[in-house]
Amino acid sequence: MDKKITIAIDGFSSTGKSTLAKQLAKHLGYVYVDTGAMYRAVTYYAMQKGYIDDTHFDKTALIKDLPNINLRFSFNSELGFAEMYLNGENVEKVIRTLEVSNKVSRVAEVSEVRAKLVEQQQEMGADKGVVMDGRDIGTVVFPNAELKLYMTASAITRAQRRYDELIAKGDTVTYEQVLKNVEERDRIDSSREDSPLVKADDAIAIDNSKLTIQEQFDKVLRLVADVC
Ligand code: DC
Repeated sequence: MDKKITIAIDGFSSTGKSTLAKQLAKHLGYVYVDTGAMYRAVTYYAMQKGYIDDTHFDKTALIKDLPNINLRFSFNSELGFAEMYLNGENVEKVIRTLEVSNKVSRVAEVSEVRAKLVEQQQEMGADKGVVMDGRDIGTVVFPNAELKLYMTASAITRAQRRYDELIAKGDTVTYEQVLKNVEERDRIDSSREDSPLVKADDAIAIDNSKLTIQEQFDKVLRLVADVC
């Protein structure tokens, strides 16, 4: 595997994209970019500034303020992955809360937000040797990626995974709240006008409802070997 490639991983929330992406990046010595973290960080910024809450969203104010949002990933060798920094502050943990999850799809609908983040993502992947996960990586960010994966799993499987993750982190959420969030984000992410979540024609679909993490990893490594 001496050729460095771009690996694009798209799919609905909690389909195990980031687990697979981290495994691949570690194994191949690639950079991993979690683009969802970028949309989450912008959402957290908008919440702090009072641009968005459960009932209102001042898109114009957020769009005007976009130049003041600086996003950066910094590799944490203890954790083995890069953490998200928003204007110099480590926001890795706070951006994963349900409060942010409940608003992020509305922020991700804004074309100006997408344009800013897509540009940064394209810069980060310009030298290849990158695994990037999100919703529009194989369709918009890197339409020429050598390997595109489209991950799927049932909403119930995904909600249970996300619920287990949040509980393990000490959050107090109910399974019903998480399932509602997963279904609502699925709906918004796949029906928005700008860059909706769709499977790229040349993406390989992987339903991991019944695959172990190791089985999935082995399967994808064979796909990587085919193109490298
Ligand atoms: O991958 P995630 O669940 O952390 O992503 C959070 C949200 O960000 C997701 O609901 C939709 C949005 N998103 C997007 O629109 N495009 C991407 N490339 C990544 C995420």
